[in-house]
Order: sequence, then C-alpha cells, then structure tokens
Amino acid sequence: MELARTNWPDVARYLERSSLLVIPVGSVEQHGPNGLIGTDHLVAEALALRVGESEGVMVAPTLAYGMSHHHLAFPGSTSLSPRTLILVVSEILSNFYRNGFRRFFFVNGHGGNDSSLKAAFSEFLLNHPEGRTTLANWWLLPEVMEKEKEFFGGVNGYHATCGEISVTWHLFPDRQSPIPPGQAPDPHHEWPLGAERFRSLYPDGRMGSDPSLATGEKGQVLYDIAFSVIRDRVREFGIAP
Ligand code: NI
Repeated sequence: MELARTNWPDVARYLERSSLLVIPVGSVEQHGPNGLIGTDHLVAEALALRVGESEGVMVAPTLAYGMSHHHLAFPGSTSLSPRTLILVVSEILSNFYRNGFRRFFFVNGHGGNDSSLKAAFSEFLLNHPEGRTTLANWWLLPEVMEKEKEFFGGVNGYHATCGEISVTWHLFPDRQSPIPPGQAPDPHHEWPLGAERFRSLYPDGRMGSDPSLATGEKGQVLYDIAFSVIRDRVREFGIAP
C-alpha cells in the first residue's frame, strides 16, 4: 500500500488496524564509474514497496536525499547536511504521529544516513513516548553479507559494492554497464572524509570493490534475501508490545 496513492479515508481505515508506516530512505550520490546515482534510494524503495505489498502495510514516499558530503566531488552527487537530515526526519515523524501513525520502520540504503537517522529517532522519541522507531540497513543484514562473501569473496567492497550494483542490475536490467576487472583501493582508516580527500583516496568513487563481478542474477538472490529478512522484521515490529 503506497501512501501517496491512497486518500485520507483509506489512511483512516488503515489506522484502525495498524499504526505502522514503512519509510524508504537513501541518497543521491555517485556509485563508482558504472553504478547508478540513485542506487541507495532505488534499492530501499524497491524493498519497502515489496514488503508493503506482501504484508499489506503502508509505505511512505521515499526520502531520496541523504547525507552524502563525502561524495560531493563527483558530478551528480548532492546531499543534506547531518543537521538538516535530522530535522527533516524528526519533523516527518512528529507530524505523521500527530495524525495517527505510531510505529516507523525505515528501510535504509545508505551508510552515511545511519547516525543522522538514529539522532532523529532520539529527538522524536523524547517528545512522543508512544512512538516506536527502527531501521534496517539492507546491505548490513548478516544474511546478505554472508551471501555476498560467497559470491564476491574479499572484493565486495564498502562503496559501489558488487552487491549493490548487482541488485540494481536485477531491478533495472537495461541499466547494466559492465566494467573491466580490477579492485578499487581498500578503505583508508580515516572516516569521515571531506569530499576532495575522498576523491583523492578513491579516484573513481569505488571503495574496495570489483564490480566486474556484478550480475543481475546474483542481484536477484541478494534482493530476495534482503526482502525476506526485512519482511520478517517489519512483521515483528508491527506487533511487538
Ligand atoms: Ni550505495
């Protein structure tokens, strides 16, 4: 059930049986020389909508923009600052709460959002004691990481990973663009990084990955695993006391 495609009486009826809202969140940032700029929000949205359909839960419009300061030296990347993201998320939650939603499950596609999302949850929960918040970072789910290790060994990487590129190739097969083999530099032990510093350490935008190993078939397997784990978590979160 997509919130954007319902009307308010539909929402009022939904709220009689559930106060759960799933919210996809991602980023608009470079994903290496052959990864899609929208990777993080496109994958989060696809997972959230699939869960919404399978479980009959309401899915809010995707928050496509995230905290991507470190990617700003690449064309096509943009960002909210951490404090803006905290404000945007806490205000969206407070106002959905005001008209009846209580439980908020974020499906997140981007690591740079994690700390701001959790800070926003803390701000929101301070004044909304009946509120419940949680998030799933799909690429960090143990079940996903285990399969990525099996598929890609030590070259899955940390940004523009083989796994995330495979999932976008499954979702958008006409956007597949193979690249020659070769692992990008491994992550430097310095984080976070400024935009220019990031580009000097990771010149083509990838961190430690060799996306020549990406395939849509592997992407489908990873996507199905992420979906089933998140579906179970959403189910549990919706009924937890
Ligand atoms: Ni990503």
